[in-house]
Amino acid sequence: MKGIFIVLEGPDGSGKSTMAKKIGDYYRGKGREIEFTREPGGTKISEKVRELILDNNNTEMDYRTEALLYAAARAQLVSEKIRPWLNEGKIVISERYVYSSLVYQGLGRGLGVEEVKKINDFAIAGLKPDMVLLLDVNPEKGLKRKLNIDGGDRLENEGISFHREVYEGYKKLGEIFPEIRTINAERTIDEIFIDIKEIINLL
Ligand code: TYD
Repeated sequence: MKGIFIVLEGPDGSGKSTMAKKIGDYYRGKGREIEFTREPGGTKISEKVRELILDNNNTEMDYRTEALLYAAARAQLVSEKIRPWLNEGKIVISERYVYSSLVYQGLGRGLGVEEVKKINDFAIAGLKPDMVLLLDVNPEKGLKRKLNIDGGDRLENEGISFHREVYEGYKKLGEIFPEIRTINAERTIDEIFIDIKEIINLL
């Protein structure tokens, strides 16, 4: 059986984890083997990099360092986990992938989408997802949800203008990359999942 790689993208607090779980349950019901992962993280090395990036004390971190660390965590995740899982015919569901870097670092941090894409092309060595589901929710709403839950990490604690830029960036990416499908995520979980099911059934 052919492996399938599905990526969930969207602003902080857009409900990616909830939908990842629903998609997993759906495929499990069809008898498929599922693997979940989140970025940054997902391997021993990538989780260490995650701690470095998201630590609220690392205020001096240069934006290029940040972009390279995300790419490094991703390179390890792809080679150690995602590629082998796909080769075994599994369904791989990832919260965030390259698109997060293009938006947060490329646009949010102003490093440039093309520049950030270059280092990520190197990091992922050609591993493109079969589908990217972009959960579209107003950034104010999403962020409020996240900050209420856990106080937020270094990225989440950026100002609202940063997050608005991220949101606009996601919209732009949706127009450029054909593998991205945008879903209105300001609805009930069941309503959102009906749309997602329709889309993943096309795979
Ligand atoms: P996390 O707590 O995993 O957030 P979420 O649950 O919203 O995914 O933290 C990840 C943070 O890192 C989030 O604010 C987005 C940011 N990020 C980037 O800036 N670039 C990236 O390439 C990735 C993967 C995440």
